[in-house]
Amino acid sequence: MPRSRPALGCRRRLSRTHYLASLLAGAVGDVADERKRVVASGYDRMAERYLEWGGTIEGDPRHRMLAAFSDRLPADARVLDLGCGAGVPSTQQLAQRFHVLGVDISRSQLELARRNVPEAEFRLGDFSELQLAEGAFEGVVALYAVSHLPREQHGQLFVDVFRWLAPGGLFLATLGAADSPDWTGEWLGEEMFFSSHDADANRQLMRAAGFDLMVDEVAVTHEPGGDVSFLWVIGQKPPVAERW
Ligand SMILES: C[S@@+](CC[C@H](N)C(=O)[O-])C[C@H]1O[C@@H](n2cnc3c(N)ncnc32)[C@H](O)[C@@H]1O
Repeated sequence: MPRSRPALGCRRRLSRTHYLASLLAGAVGDVADERKRVVASGYDRMAERYLEWGGTIEGDPRHRMLAAFSDRLPADARVLDLGCGAGVPSTQQLAQRFHVLGVDISRSQLELARRNVPEAEFRLGDFSELQLAEGAFEGVVALYAVSHLPREQHGQLFVDVFRWLAPGGLFLATLGAADSPDWTGEWLGEEMFFSSHDADANRQLMRAAGFDLMVDEVAVTHEPGGDVSFLWVIGQKPPVAERW
């Protein structure tokens, strides 16, 4: 795994697309974990349905959170979108300002994303298995995606994201707010898997990975099936101390 930031000269010579692609090595692998296969095939079957359902949710703070994240990033920032889904509305919004690489484990979701956001780049794969260079991105987002990852892997994911970020970089994430051990069952008409820690455990894992929490808010969204709370965080990788 490359551990150093790619040379700037290399970044300038390559096109934007090829540059982002060059950061990824072996993103696509076989999904060995049954829980992740459930997630991938569930979204493969319900990609369009999920998009429609998403439009019925009220009180989702995603636009406010994306604005808080985007306004803190430089104009040419490289942003990684973990579990980008169909690319709308969030990947699309990010791609209007930044160089975006979206990663998703579902082929159907990625097909929609490629169509919806042709200006971004996409890769199929499990975001917990990504091999990326240290400091490769100024921003990483994971919106409503981490709770599909078995929760024993959340802490390592936060450590990985911290490593992929440049000093001063930001991680915007929607995390669970309730202690919910692995759950597999029917969701939106398909078999699906969820797993999350409560808000305090998530804060601790973020801090243990090295992040300073700039935004830390539990928000309630009104879904057709009832209200659900999520922890929204923007974690910052500390900037390199200025010399004096
Ligand atoms: C609830 S959707 C959210 C999509 C989008 N981020 C949004 O906010 O609308 C979760 C997405 O994460 C993807 N996902 C879940 N686990 C993943 C994993 N381990 N690696 C990559 N993508 C994953 C799913 O395929 C799905 O598209």
